[in-house]
This record gives sequence, structure tokens and C-alpha cells, in this order.
Amino acid sequence: MTTLARKRRAESSLEPGSVERLVIIGFMGAGKSTVGPIVADRLGWTFIDLDDEVAGRAGNPVDEIIRGRGLDAFRRLESDAGGEVLRRRRVVVAVGGGWPAEPGHMELLTDGTVSVWLRVSAATALARIAACVTPRPLLEVADRLAAAESLLAQRREHYRRGDIEIDTEHRTPDEVAGDILKRIAPRARDRERHGGHTEREESA
Ligand code: S3P
Repeated sequence: MTTLARKRRAESSLEPGSVERLVIIGFMGAGKSTVGPIVADRLGWTFIDLDDEVAGRAGNPVDEIIRGRGLDAFRRLESDAGGEVLRRRRVVVAVGGGWPAEPGHMELLTDGTVSVWLRVSAATALARIAACVTPRPLLEVADRLAAAESLLAQRREHYRRGDIEIDTEHRTPDEVAGDILKRIAPRARDRERHGGHTEREESA
């Protein structure tokens, strides 16, 4: 299925009550773990941070897993945890920045799931990460900007497969969360109001 067809299908599934899972994707520093709990709270759903889920299962923080057991081992744990978590209902799930780029992962986001790509530039991502306590081993290199830009370039095609895109540059977590909610619920309401027709929004 093409990206556009998938987005159209996701939009057509936005009938009241038909969405039971929201998955937030995007690069490190996009705000997934900050915005996710706000959205979950407003929906009355449960927030799940996939990194926390992996850390809880492994009994070790993600950065220690990556440093100690290697990136491939972390990706396997992340994949297992993601597969399980994405079967739950009424959840907002923030997946790690690398999750969408692993084979078969975006295909798990099927009916009843809406995926939201929080867009961020490499420079803004690094500024946000610098102000945060969670270590990101993949960016602990001499030229962090070059590393972030290169990773982002490799992953953009996967993030782009998200149903909804939201720009997070110069915007607060509350504004971004409000945007996500607006982009989901009112479209269902509009559909009722306009007899089945809604405008498709490309981005915020
Ligand atoms: C990673 C992103 C991190 C975490 C790990 C690897 C990545 O999560 O899963 O450090 O490959 O982009 P966040 O996107 O929540 O920072």
C-alpha cells in the first residue's frame, strides 16, 4: 500500500470510537515522551514509553543496554516489547527514534492505530537532548550535529509513513499535544457535520 493510500485509510478510520491506539514516532528530541503523556491524559488513555518498557523488562536503562550488550541486542528487545505493547488498547505509545526504521515495524501499525510523526530538525533535537537527563549513546560522538543529521536523513522516509505529521519547531509540548488532539477528534466530528466529507490535512 502506498504512503498516501495508507494515510487515506487512516483518515477514513477516524470515526468516533474506531481509534484505539496512538503511536508517536520521530527522532530523538522530537518530544515524544513529553507530548505523549499529555495526549494520553486528555484522552483518558494509558501512556507507554517503549524505552521505559524495554528498560523495565531488561532491568537496565536503555543507554546501559546499548553500551553493554550492543545496539543489535537493544533492537531485539525493543522489537519484542513493541510487538507486545502494540496489541494493547486505549494506549498512547511513544516508540524510540530508531523503532520505525527497523524492518516490519511500521507495518505493525494497522487498523485502529493512528501514527503521529513529530518532526524536528537535527539542531533543535540536539538542543532539547542537551537539556535532558536521558543519555543517547548514538549521539555521543565528536560531531553530534553531523551524526544527528545523518541519522535523521536515513530515517525520514520511515517517519514519513506516519498518518499525521506535526511540526514541533518553536512549539511547546502543550501546543503540540493540542494539535494532535485537534487533528484526530474534530475530523471525525467534521465528518458527521459535513455528511461524510472531511478535508485532509498534510501538516500543522
Ligand atoms: C534511539 C532513540 C532513543 C532510544 C535509544 C536509541 C534511536 O529513544 O531508544 O537511545 O536509535 O534513535 P528516544 O527517541 O526516545 O530518544
